[in-house]
Amino acid sequence: DPALVPEEVLDLARSARRVLVLTGAGASAESGVPTFRDAVTGLWSRFDPMQLATPEAWAADPAMCWAWYGWRAHLIRIAEPNPGHRAITTWQQRPGVDLRVSTQNIDDLHERAGTEVMAHVHGNLFDLWCADCEAPSAAEFPPVPEPVERIDPPRCEACGGWVRPGIVWFGEMLPEAELEATVTAAERAELVVVVGTSGMVYPAAAVPGIARDLGTPVVEVNPAGSTLPDGADHVIAAPAGEALPDLVGNL
Ligand code: NAD
Ligand code: APR
Ligand code: ZN
Repeated sequence: DPALVPEEVLDLARSARRVLVLTGAGASAESGVPTFRDAVTGLWSRFDPMQLATPEAWAADPAMCWAWYGWRAHLIRIAEPNPGHRAITTWQQRPGVDLRVSTQNIDDLHERAGTEVMAHVHGNLFDLWCADCEAPSAAEFPPVPEPVERIDPPRCEACGGWVRPGIVWFGEMLPEAELEATVTAAERAELVVVVGTSGMVYPAAAVPGIARDLGTPVVEVNPAGSTLPDGADHVIAAPAGEALPDLVGNL
């Protein structure tokens, strides 16, 4: 098939020493982890996001939220990194390249593909901590092979409060260090590649614009085409699992 990645993007990728890769749910789509907003398969289309991913929803019904996140944890556990994840690892290991990855994803597929992840700006589903005293918890998600209505979350060993997933819910602040590292990387990068995000949630959606304002080329990989609020210099309208191996394979 004709090369997915235009020659000018390959030239940028070949010469860039400092690269920032920003990923969203689309980077894990081909691993079978549903995205949040894709019309047909998007997870939110079956659930009301404001119902499940807010501190209010948790306060109202922790068992329902815990059951839903337990099912998501199951989908992630049975998933495998896809060729897109692996291409990022290969690029990161290329001599002379300082490639940083900042993801909105709460899965561990980048890590399982061997990528060193600089930041999870929306946290990590498997980091569990107490919703009351914020003590980290050694608890784990139970196996939830099918979505079920409710599962009581584990109790905090220290104070008896409910244990919650370590992710950023709507309205919550993002982990400051992760966000700062991502902004700094966007200011230093010579090339930014944005993979699989609808560009709808801030402040993550504002990061590519930081690079653009500095004249740094931004490349977006998304089968839906251009989604970034501040645009991109190049848009590769293809799935990550095809575009990224094509890009990295031609470096
Ligand atoms: P939002 O518009 O509320 O902004 C997210 C948070 O970041 C807010 O607390 C806001 O104060 C802060 N913020 C916004 N712009 C900022 C900036 N420029 N610099 C620093 N902080 C800034 O976003 P939202 O739609 O309410 O979602 C909140 C977060 O929760 C998002 O990051 C979203 O992706 C995340 N989330 C995660 C899940 C999940 O299941 N992992 C589900 C839903 C939402
Ligand atoms: N390759 C690349 N991109 C893809 C693929 C694929 N195979 N499949 C789907 N996409 C694109 C879709 O076109 C869409 O633009 O991935 C994007 C997924 O968008 P969302 O589902 O909105 O996921 P994301 O942008 O990561 O959501 C941002 O919102 O719900 C919160 O915290 C959650 O981190 C999430 C944040
Ligand atoms: Zn506690």
